[in-house]
Amino acid sequence: MMSEEKIKKEYERIESLSKNPQSTLLAMLHFIQKEKGFITEQDAEYLSSISKIPYSKVKAVMTFYTMYNLKKTGIHHIQICRNLSCHMAGAPALKKIIENELSIKEGEVTPDGLFSLTEVECLGSCGTAPVIMINETYHENMNEEKLKALLKELKEKNENTTR
Ligand code: FES
Repeated sequence: MMSEEKIKKEYERIESLSKNPQSTLLAMLHFIQKEKGFITEQDAEYLSSISKIPYSKVKAVMTFYTMYNLKKTGIHHIQICRNLSCHMAGAPALKKIIENELSIKEGEVTPDGLFSLTEVECLGSCGTAPVIMINETYHENMNEEKLKALLKELKEKNENTTR
């Protein structure tokens, strides 16, 4: 669990570089998510207290952007785009594959905590639709074959590291 001290230290570092409170807030939300995978109400309250940005504003920003996870995610957090280009290029079928292969529904985490799946708004790479993001990595021009191979690879990687 990340300490408040660590958050504060990073806040002071970013704030000294950027005098724009909005950019500092976005950078801080990104930092917290990168460190522990998701952002809690408690984090929002703490950020508000050190930045003097009203809690309601912090909360509004973190809920507005779908890239911020508000609940615990799997080690491999899969985001699948649900907007038009990806939808037309076959995203719904890819989503079904993920749900079937991992036996979870959108919004859920696998019981072993390895995978989670969420649908998000445009990932900003419509020209290479359909697009999936796993943690910080884009997987573009996805198709059923590539997706199945990727899931298999991730499952195997975890089997090898947990042995
Ligand atoms: S519509 Fe999917 S990345 Fe833009």
